[in-house]
Amino acid sequence: MNREDFTILQQDPNLIYFDNSATTLKPKKVLEKITEYYNQYTANAHRGDYDNSLRVDEEYEKVREKVQKLIHNPSTKEIVFTSGATDSLNMVVFGFMRYHLCPGEEVLITKAEHASNVLPWMRLKEETQIEVNYIPLENHQVTIENVKKSITPQTRVISLAHVTNVLGDERPIQEIGKLCKERGIYLVVDGSQSVPHLPIDVQKLGIDFLAFSGHKMLGPTGVGVLYGREDLLEQLVPTRLGGGMNASFDSEGTVDYKSLPSRLEAGTPNIEGVLGMGAAIDYLLDVGLETIHQHEIELKKYAVERLSQIPNLELYNKDIENGMIAFNIQGVFSQDTAVYLNHYHICVRAGNHCAKILKEDLNIKNTCRISFYLYNTKEEIDELVRVLEKSEDIFKVVL
Ligand SMILES: Cc1ncc(COP(=O)(O)O)c(C=O)c1O
Repeated sequence: MNREDFTILQQDPNLIYFDNSATTLKPKKVLEKITEYYNQYTANAHRGDYDNSLRVDEEYEKVREKVQKLIHNPSTKEIVFTSGATDSLNMVVFGFMRYHLCPGEEVLITKAEHASNVLPWMRLKEETQIEVNYIPLENHQVTIENVKKSITPQTRVISLAHVTNVLGDERPIQEIGKLCKERGIYLVVDGSQSVPHLPIDVQKLGIDFLAFSGHKMLGPTGVGVLYGREDLLEQLVPTRLGGGMNASFDSEGTVDYKSLPSRLEAGTPNIEGVLGMGAAIDYLLDVGLETIHQHEIELKKYAVERLSQIPNLELYNKDIENGMIAFNIQGVFSQDTAVYLNHYHICVRAGNHCAKILKEDLNIKNTCRISFYLYNTKEEIDELVRVLEKSEDIFKVVL
C-alpha cells in the first residue's frame, strides 16, 4: 500500500522494514512539510508579529485540529504537544497525579506495560507513598473481570496501554472506561501502539488522559501528544516552566500562566516536529485508520499461516488479531535471530521491548518482534519465511 510515497523504500528496494512498533518510516509528504517550514517560513512560534511568524502560528495551531480529527476529542485546548508518549505520561504523573493522590491510594497497571507507564508511577510511589498494584493477566491479557476484581476502595487510577508493545493485545478500554466513570477512577491510556493503527474516539472510550508519539505514526521523532479532558488539564501543574507558557511574572515571584494549551508548552516547541506530525496525520486520515488496521490483520493472518509451517519456530501471539508477531527460533537467542535477519535486510526488534516485568508473566525473557504497517506486503513476508526456513544457517551467518 502506497510504497511509492516512502523514499527509503524506493532507494533501497531490498529493505524489509518490520520494526514499525519501534518507529515507522516517513512518507515524502512529512519530509516536504518539514523542509517547507525551513525553506519558506522559518520563525519561532507564538512570539513574532511578522508574516513568517504568523504563518508558523497558523500552521502550528492547525495541527491541533488534525489531532482532534484523529482522536475525536471536543476541544483543541485539550491537545498539548510534547516530546512523545514518555513525556506525556510523565506530565500526567508528575503534573497531575502527584497533586491528586494521597498516601495509600492506589494506581493499577499491569506487568505488560512499557517502562514509560511503569517507572513514573514507581517514582511517584517512592515520593508520595501511593500504592502501585498489578491487574493480573489472563493468558497474558487484560480481562474486564480481572479489572473488576482488582479495583479496591483505594483505587484512584487505572493506567494501561491501549495496545501492548510485546504481544500487541488490545485492552477493553471502553468497558474499563465505563467502570472508571462509575467509580470516579481516572483512566490514563498509553496510545503509543494504538493511535497509529486503529480508529480512536477518546470520548466513546471514556479516556481521561491519552499519550502517544508522532514517530510511531509516520511523523518525526521528538514530538507527541498529551490529550487530557479539559477540566483535568486545567488542574495539571506545569512540570516545565519558562517562556511561552506565562502571561506575566514579577520580581516578587507572582506568576500568571497562560491558558490551555500554551500553559503546558514551555520553551520553543518542536515546530518542525509538530508540522511534520500534522502532515503524517493528514496522510493517515487519507488512507483511513480502519483500512490500515484491516491491512495489518490480513498480513498477520498470512504470516502466521506461513510461519506456523516452520518446525522450530515458536509463535507467542498467533491468536491475537493485530499487526504484531512475537516469536523465537527454538534454542536461538532472539538477538541472534535479529542479526541473522539483518543479513537479509530484514529489520525486526529483539529483546524485552522495554516491558521488562512481562517476563514474570510470560516466562520468556526475550522475543523477536515483527510489527507491520501500511506499506508492508505479503511478498516481504514470503522473503522472511524463505530466510527463516533455512535458519539452520543462523550460526554460520551470525558468528
Ligand atoms: C506501549 C509504549 N508506550 C510508550 C512508548 C514510549 O514511546 P516514546 O519512546 O516515543 O516516548 C513506547 C515505545 O516503544 C511503547 O511501545
